[in-house]
Amino acid sequence: MTDRIVVAGGAGYIGSHVCVELLAVGKEVLVVDDFSNSSPEALARVEEIAGRKIALLEADLADAAQAEKINAAVAAFRPDGAVHLAGLKAVGESVAEPERYYRVNINAALALVRALDAAGARRIVFSSSATVYGEANPNPVREDAATAPANPYGRTKLFIEEILKDLARADPRWRACNLRYFNPVGAHPSGRIGEDPEGVPNNLFPFIAQTAVGRREKLRIFGKDYPTRDGTGVRDYIHVCDLARGHLAALDYLAGHEDAGAIDVNLGTGVGYSVLEAVEAFARASGRDIPYEFAPRRPGDVAEIYADPSRAARLFGWKAQKTLADMCADHWRWQRDNPDGYRR
Ligand code: NAD
Ligand code: WQD
Repeated sequence: MTDRIVVAGGAGYIGSHVCVELLAVGKEVLVVDDFSNSSPEALARVEEIAGRKIALLEADLADAAQAEKINAAVAAFRPDGAVHLAGLKAVGESVAEPERYYRVNINAALALVRALDAAGARRIVFSSSATVYGEANPNPVREDAATAPANPYGRTKLFIEEILKDLARADPRWRACNLRYFNPVGAHPSGRIGEDPEGVPNNLFPFIAQTAVGRREKLRIFGKDYPTRDGTGVRDYIHVCDLARGHLAALDYLAGHEDAGAIDVNLGTGVGYSVLEAVEAFARASGRDIPYEFAPRRPGDVAEIYADPSRAARLFGWKAQKTLADMCADHWRWQRDNPDGYRR
């Protein structure tokens, strides 16, 4: 049974929820994070929710000068495996600064791999993304669909997936699971941890939530003439707590399957909702108006994408349980109780 887990990027939006789930089932956790896009306050709140302590190494995984410190801390922790969520994730930024995205994301992954290898813990669950899929795949998207990421961020995800596959080919002691997240939203039902984007949010849910709480004047809906049921884009939104449970399921699967190799697994609900449906559900959950206007399509957006989540069900016995109403209610509770995120 895997019970000592390194969580790289554990202070972030998804990582903090993964930590809560790991602690809840009695695992020991070492978070490695440089807080470049998160706050130590998130970890304090994780400990408060779980009633248990987290070990922390504040370090930049992508900085070679910190490798010795990282290797020593990981080895001293005696891990059984790791969840790797550390990296840069803004699509637009990756188009403008590709060198930084490749350097940080690839180097961070390699540094974690080296630390795990040295510690003899060759099991890793990686935060990949539905963004690795090409544009032209039929829905629901299966893991064997064509990959063709449309930007440098997505390519870092695909390259790291391939690196983990090569490791498993070269040395069967490596076991890896590339979790391809669809659209993570929502927050822990306690309202204590959630997504806290810096500046103007790029993603739909944080933008809706900040509009509902009065921090933004109105939402701009990108595109109203897509070939979808109401003309707006359709996505597979998944509650972050369901997503976090998926990481536990993946770790348990790897622990129980010596010959797992490196596998790709979608984490989604299998159901798509349109932007207008999401806005309506959020307005209902929050009791607030969400003013919006239509704007041109956002470059790079696809009309519709949702997962075939049956591999996760078959291999892990995992299924998303929470509804769109749950996602909105929990996202709203976090936003309402923490209008300025962790910064207050
Ligand atoms: P996040 O930015 O909230 O979390 C990432 C964490 O990693 C942050 O705490 C950040 O400080 C840390 N970090 C970044 N670079 C680091 C480095 N060099 N060394 C140490 N720590 C570092 O992002 P998130 O939304 O929680 O996403 C987690 C992972 O999941 C990311 O890899 C992201 O690409 C991936 N992902 C996210 C989404 C999404 O919509 N949120 C979708 C698919 C995949
Ligand atoms: C959802 C829908 C928009 C904002 C992105 C990344 C992807 C992954 C998840 C990491 C689309 C519409 C949005 C707004 C809008 N991240 N929208 N107004 O684009 O599916 O995926 O996050 O791996 O890589 O690309 O998510 O939340 O940005 O957009 O109308 O202000 O909402 O056009 O239809 P997306 P999103």
